[in-house]
Amino acid sequence: MVKRRRAFICGWPVEHSRSPIIHNYWIKKHRLDGVYIKQPVKPENFAGFLASLAKKDLLGGNVTIPHKEQAFNLIKYLDPVAKRLGAVNTVWFEDTKLHGANTDGYGFLANLDQCAPGWDNNNTGDKEAIVLGAGGASRAIIDAILMRGFKKVHVINRTLSRASKLVDLFGPAVSAHQWNDIQQLVKNVILLVNTTSMGMNHMPLLEIDLNPLPDNCVVSDIVYAPLQTLLLKQANSRGLRTVDGLGMLLHQAVPGFELWFGTRPEVTDDLRQLIIRDLAEKQ
Ligand code: ATR
Repeated sequence: MVKRRRAFICGWPVEHSRSPIIHNYWIKKHRLDGVYIKQPVKPENFAGFLASLAKKDLLGGNVTIPHKEQAFNLIKYLDPVAKRLGAVNTVWFEDTKLHGANTDGYGFLANLDQCAPGWDNNNTGDKEAIVLGAGGASRAIIDAILMRGFKKVHVINRTLSRASKLVDLFGPAVSAHQWNDIQQLVKNVILLVNTTSMGMNHMPLLEIDLNPLPDNCVVSDIVYAPLQTLLLKQANSRGLRTVDGLGMLLHQAVPGFELWFGTRPEVTDDLRQLIIRDLAEKQ
């Protein structure tokens, strides 16, 4: 008898995760005999959990906060992005060996490619971006932007020392700045992205003067609750193209699903609407 194929999301806590809705939607759409389940695992039990995957008949899954760095340290076979970021969010088996990848940067780029085609082209080829924030999401996004040939990435953070520590992990193209510097840095950028938690429900608003931004600048926010943050509303009013944060969550799930279930799924408006309804219910 063929066993039902099972994948998981492992975190602590993991209750709030939308990944099961995404993957179970694709399982149903592709008529697969599978299921994607939540696995709440405490940090001290994570190594044991990873070691027990095969025994539990789990094909692989997603790893989320606070386990991404531990997964990086425990898994031998890593994709180049996970190696660069020191963090794993997707695990799967190849010939009984556990592999790890990081698809956050892929999700970020695929979302921009889908929602703002041509976002990374400019006439001179001298591409510049601003990244607000210096946490884990910022690191993945800086790495992804550099892969697209950006020549300068300005990282702006409330705590300058944290930004400085982060930019030291990259080459000279990436520099650290304080919020006060923003007005002089925005003039030549073709991408401005918020990776801080500002603008999220119950958090302080993110207010920036977007007037000095070039007309071809794309503004993106990784916050998706609310979907239309003040930053995105202001960018829209200023006539700039905007990309919300929900698409990154959806696109980062694509490679994992393909690895576990052998079918490459699509990020459709139908799926987006399903998550938007869930966000509205659970606000
Ligand atoms: P993640 O791993 O998801 O990126 P994180 O590591 O908690 O999350 O990082 C949160 C980011 O939001 C940081 O850049 C943080 O700035 P600090 O490094 O100065 O803490 C930023 N952030 C959160 N709340 C903020 C606020 N009220 N004002 C300015 N920045 C804030």
